Formats: sequence, structure tokens, C-alpha cells
Amino acid sequence: MDIFAFVLLSSNLLLFSFVSSDTVDIITQSQPLSDSKGTTLASKDGGFVLGFFSPGNPNNRYLGIWYNNIPIRTVVWVANRRNPINGSSGVLVVNNNGKLVLLNQNSTVAWSANSTKEARNPMVQLLDSGNLVLREENEENSENYLWQSFDYPSDTWLPGMKVGWDLRTGLERRLTAWKSPDDPSPGELSWGIELHDYPEIVMKKGYDEFFRTGPWNGRIFSGVPELRATPVYNFSFVSNKDEVYFMFHMINTSLISRAVMNQTQYERYLWVNGKWKQYLYLPKDNCDNYNLCGAYGNCIIGESPVCQCVQGFKPKSPDTWNPDEWSKGCIRSTQLSCQDKDKIGFDKLFGYKLPDTTHSWVNLSMNLEECRVKCMNNCTCMAYSNTDIRDGGSGCAMWFGDLIDIRQIALTGQDANSLGQDLYIRMPASEKVKDKQKMKVILVVVVAIAVVLGVLSIPYCICVRTNLRDQTRAKVLGWSMRFNIICGIARGLLYLHEDSRLRIVHRDLKASNVLLDSKMNPKISDFGMARIFGGDQTEGNTNRVVGTYGYMAPEYAIDGLFSVKSDVFSFGVLLLEILSGKKNRGFFHPSNGLNLVGHESL
Ligand SMILES: *[C@@H]1O[C@H](CO)[C@@H](O)[C@H](O)[C@H]1NC(C)=O
Ligand SMILES: *[C@@H]1O[C@H](CO)[C@@H](O)[C@H](O)[C@H]1NC(C)=O
Ligand SMILES: *[C@@H]1O[C@H](CO)[C@@H](O)[C@H](O)[C@H]1NC(C)=O
Ligand SMILES: *[C@@H]1O[C@H](CO)[C@@H](O)[C@H](O)[C@H]1NC(C)=O
Ligand SMILES: *[C@@H]1O[C@H](CO)[C@@H](O)[C@H](O)[C@H]1NC(C)=O
Ligand SMILES: *[C@@H]1O[C@H](CO)[C@@H](O)[C@H](O)[C@H]1NC(C)=O
Ligand SMILES: *[C@@H]1O[C@H](CO)[C@@H](O)[C@H](O)[C@H]1NC(C)=O
Ligand SMILES: *[C@@H]1O[C@H](CO)[C@@H](O)[C@H](O)[C@H]1NC(C)=O
Repeated sequence: MDIFAFVLLSSNLLLFSFVSSDTVDIITQSQPLSDSKGTTLASKDGGFVLGFFSPGNPNNRYLGIWYNNIPIRTVVWVANRRNPINGSSGVLVVNNNGKLVLLNQNSTVAWSANSTKEARNPMVQLLDSGNLVLREENEENSENYLWQSFDYPSDTWLPGMKVGWDLRTGLERRLTAWKSPDDPSPGELSWGIELHDYPEIVMKKGYDEFFRTGPWNGRIFSGVPELRATPVYNFSFVSNKDEVYFMFHMINTSLISRAVMNQTQYERYLWVNGKWKQYLYLPKDNCDNYNLCGAYGNCIIGESPVCQCVQGFKPKSPDTWNPDEWSKGCIRSTQLSCQDKDKIGFDKLFGYKLPDTTHSWVNLSMNLEECRVKCMNNCTCMAYSNTDIRDGGSGCAMWFGDLIDIRQIALTGQDANSLGQDLYIRMPASEKVKDKQKMKVILVVVVAIAVVLGVLSIPYCICVRTNLRDQTRAKVLGWSMRFNIICGIARGLLYLHEDSRLRIVHRDLKASNVLLDSKMNPKISDFGMARIFGGDQTEGNTNRVVGTYGYMAPEYAIDGLFSVKSDVFSFGVLLLEILSGKKNRGFFHPSNGLNLVGHESL
């Protein structure tokens, strides 16, 4: 976001123009582009230029397109990327058959545009978008171009350029890295769409999947919340019987942005104050490694080990659950019985990257309930979800067979509401019932404790602590309001511990981390120290004790052992504070010293 703010504020970009005197704006049969004469072809607005260049060895000449106004030569497309011309003999011409060809010294063809139709009055033009097109002189309709460079990407994704498939012709548009910074021939890594029923972008290393973005949910790629519309550009995704592609558009067209597949990663850049500023790269961490944790394994950055099992599953090889074994994945704790539909339910997971869609099925007009029924009725359907999260959710995606390449994604605050997507995983009904009962018992206990203790007086507009401190407000806060606040916090905590599919231990629950809205509804905030528990895990251990003294459970403060119980301890302290209107630490009673907790227990 910094970059965007910065760019939107900066009043102007320094523009340098490198248009040589020998610049033409069209190439025709009588007007070729010649390296030895130094001719170049510029777009009408002067933004892009087509010419010859050498990225390394000066004898190796390539025909390419780069930004005209950017002093650091940034090549966005290369014609003869596999086949350099030796020396400056290269000439780009439209030949007698109306084909666009690049000839070298002895008039052999070094590269040619792969147009299928012959042109009668052909002309070549570099459009303002950076797209080099071959077309009939009088034909400006883009559907009828005879050939265009945007159909044959090199390593760079420009605004308006499709990455994906034309299903009518079988044409795939995929970014491919250069082999090295001085060799534009195709390298190992590529970026394109896998044509599954539920399409997604996949980065490949050779033929192997290397990283997936997860499918597009209308707002983000489910595994990469950062890949979404920004104030600078937006995404569009089109999937119909003719085409499947992603495209991005600049919203502020005076800004320059490009994405590039380099030899190690996918990156997005913005031209800011005379520099290319990188503001996104993928893959970004260990969990982005394709299928690191195997079937039903859930990759969680910050956990040790990073591979955990989805709740209801356990490691396939628990004795050797180490990096070499993770890829074996997890198996169900309780076997599924397929035939008896009463024994099947679906667990709702939230905050996950959607699983690999290789074995998926999609119907865009079905709703979630229809989706559930259809999935329920097919024993191989292991999960379902909406395809689009906008407007309350629509469409149906189903997964068959084992679910792989799942990870936790970090969505916080408002993002979680607006960008997150629920995934429903098939589970034995018995597991679900157990969960629900546990939840109810805890809720009853918590509410009972709150009632027994009575309810406190504490008003707040920003956080519970502020309101606790302010004695005037404290008087305003009646018991019923305090009761509501306590119940709200209890409900929030219960959600974190039991209701959400991930067991989340907050680890720093305290008055200042409870926010109140105008109606005095509490919200637990600041998850900076929270830990996520996977599977059946109930406690964890850390060498680095973080949290706030006064709220920390003894076993956590002393031994670093934390669990839902340590949150409950903090909740208890908070409860006392809300009831008494006093801070735990800072409370001092002459006769029994200690703190608020000590006081109450005496
Ligand atoms: C677009 O970006 C330029 C350069 O940063 C800025 O001067 C201009 O105000 C922006 N236009 C809009 C509509 O935001
Ligand atoms: C390239 O051209 C130079 C001089 O024109 C010549 O010496 C060299 O052998 C050529 N290299 C190749 C690989 O053809
Ligand atoms: C034409 O030149 C290229 C390289 O410059 C060379 O590989 C090729 O053999 C030459 N062809 C003929 C027919 O001379
Ligand atoms: C050229 O087009 C034909 C037919 O559309 C296709 O089969 C072939 O692979 C293309 N060649 C290149 C180099 O793109
Ligand atoms: C993206 O932005 C462009 C340019 O502002 C606009 O024409 C287009 O409708 C937007 N697309 C989406 C999907 O928001
Ligand atoms: C790819 O980009 C990264 C980040 O900008 C950079 O560190 C790396 O050197 C690049 N790789 C190559 C081979 O240029
Ligand atoms: C998709 O779902 C709609 C609504 O349930 C249904 O009418 C249609 O036949 C389905 N299409 C396919 C291909 O199953
Ligand atoms: C279940 O789904 C799979 C995959 O789409 C399909 O091949 C199979 O026929 C379906 N089975 C039933 C009973 O519908």
C-alpha cells in the first residue's frame, strides 16, 4: 500500500525519450525495419518501441519490444528468443506472401510470425499497449488481427494481455522466464493457467507444478490474498466455452506496471520515481512449495513443524513425521462410511488456500445447498465450496479424491470477512457431533462463570482498558452492559478455540485487546501473537514467552507451555478486571499485597 500512496501522491514521472530520428510507426512491404540502419518502430503514444538489441554478447542480436520512456532498458517481448542473429544484419520485413519475417544476412529466416492467413495489404503496427500486430491495412478490429505478439508472450505480463487459453484454436498464452539475464531463450519456469474445471494459475518448473495461486474467487486468488485489485490495477478472469484467461488493467493509466517471470520467481513491478519498485513476488514462503505437506496436510507458517494435519486427520506416518515424510500426508482419524448418508457431514473450514483443482468440477449456476447435496451423493466428492464469494457467494466447485496443497492463509480483520472463502470437507457425522457437544459444554460453563461472578462495570469506546480506567464512564456502564461485554468476549474466545476449524490460541488476551463498537459489542483484536493449533493438538510449547504480565497463566509465563487453558486464564483476569473496574497489575491492597488475582483468591 505504501507504494500506491506514494505513487498517487507523486505529481509527475520523469520521462526520458529515446526515440531515434529513424523511428517509423508502421512497417509495410516497402518499409522494412533494419538493424544496420538503426530503424525502430514506435507506438503512436511513444510508450513502446520495437527494435534490435543485445542483452549480453554484442554479436547476438534480438528483435524485441521495450519501454520507450524508461531509461533502464526493460525488454517486455522478444521475437527470435531462441535464435539470435549474428551481427547487425537483421531485417524485419513483410514478405511477398504477406507474412512477417525476420531475415538475417544471407536472407535466411531467423524468426517468423505464425499467421495462418495470407494478407493482401498487410501492415505491422506497434499498439500503445505494447502489442505488435500484423493486420490488413483497413482492418482495425482486434478479432481479425492476422497475428499479434500478445498471443506469444515472453517473460512479461503487460496490462491488457491475456494469460490463458483460446479454446477455439488451442492457443496457450504462458509467460516463460529467460534462461539468464543475457539469454532470452526459454528457461525452466513458466506461469500460466491449468485448464481444470476450476481453473487456476500454476507456476511450473519444466513440466512439474512448482507453485499454485489457487483458484480465483471473484476477489482474490484463494492462496494469494495479495493478488487482487489495488488502487493501481485490477484483475479480470474470463472462463467460457471459447476462452479461459486472466488479465489485468491499469486503473490509473499514467502509471506503468508489469509482471515478470524471472529465473527464480514471479514478480510485479511499478515504475516509481525513476526506478522499478518491486512490490510482490511469488512463491513467498516455504508453504508455497507445491504439495509440501501431502494429502490433507495443512501448511502453517510459524508452526513447528510447518506441516500439520487438517482437523479430523492424523499423520500417515506419525512416528516419522519429519520433512521427508510430510509428502505422505495425513489420513482420517475416523474412516468414512460412504453408503450411509446419515453418517456423513461436512466441516466448514475458513482461511485456507483451496486445494489443488486437478480433479475438480464446477457449475457456476448452482448454489451452495445444491452443491452440498450433489457432493454428498457422490462418494468420491471430498469437498465443495462456492466458486465466487461476491454478493453472498455463488457457484459450485467440487473436489474429487484426496485434497492436496492446502495451506493456512493469513487474512486478518476486515480482509477475512471480505476475501475469505469457506471450504466444506466431507467428514464422518460422528466427528462433527462430538465437536458440537464439546462446544456447548464450554459455552455453558463460561456463561455460568460470568453469571456467578456477577457482571462488572466498565464502559469503553475504544477498548475495555480505557473504559476501565475512566471512572466516570465506569459508573455509566451498568451491570447488564458489562454482562453483555463478558458474554461477547466469551463467545469470541469460544469461536477461536472451538468453533473455527482452526484452533486459535490468542496468547495475549487483555483489556486493551478488546475493542468495543458504538453499541458496546466487544471484539477480540490483535492476533499478532496468536498460534494456530492443528488436528488434535491441544497444547504447544515455546522458548519465547510473549504476552502481557498480569494476564499470563503461570505455566505459560514460567514454562512457556500454552494452550486454550492459558487463554481462559487471561479471560479470568479480564473478568475480574471488568467486575472490579481495576487493573490486575497496579492493584494493591495493603493487607494482602499481590495483585487483583491474588486479592480475589484470598
Ligand atoms: C495517476 O497517477 C499520476 C502519477 O502518480 C498522478 O499524478 C495522477 O493524479 C493519478 N491520477 C489519478 C486519477 O489518480
Ligand atoms: C558471426 O559473425 C562474425 C563476423 O561477422 C564471424 O566472425 C563469426 O564466426 C560469426 N559467428 C557465428 C556463430 O556464425
Ligand atoms: C546463413 O547464416 C546463418 C548464420 O548467420 C548460418 O547458420 C547459415 O548456415 C547460413 N545459410 C546459408 C545458406 O549460407
Ligand atoms: C503456428 O501455428 C500452428 C497452427 O496454428 C501451430 O500448430 C504451431 O504450433 C504454431 N507454431 C508456433 C511456433 O507457434
Ligand atoms: C478494471 O479497470 C478497468 C479500467 O479502469 C475497467 O474498465 C474494468 O471494468 C475493471 N474491471 C473489473 C473487473 O473491475
Ligand atoms: C529474480 O528476481 C529476484 C528478485 O528481484 C532477484 O533477486 C534475482 O536475482 C532474479 N533472478 C535473476 C536470475 O535475475
Ligand atoms: C448446473 O446447475 C444448474 C442449476 O442446478 C442446472 O440447471 C444445470 O443443468 C447444471 N449444469 C450442468 C452442466 O450440470
Ligand atoms: C462422482 O463424480 C465423479 C467425478 O466427476 C464421476 O466420475 C462419477 O461418475 C460420480 N459418481 C456418481 C455416482 O455420480
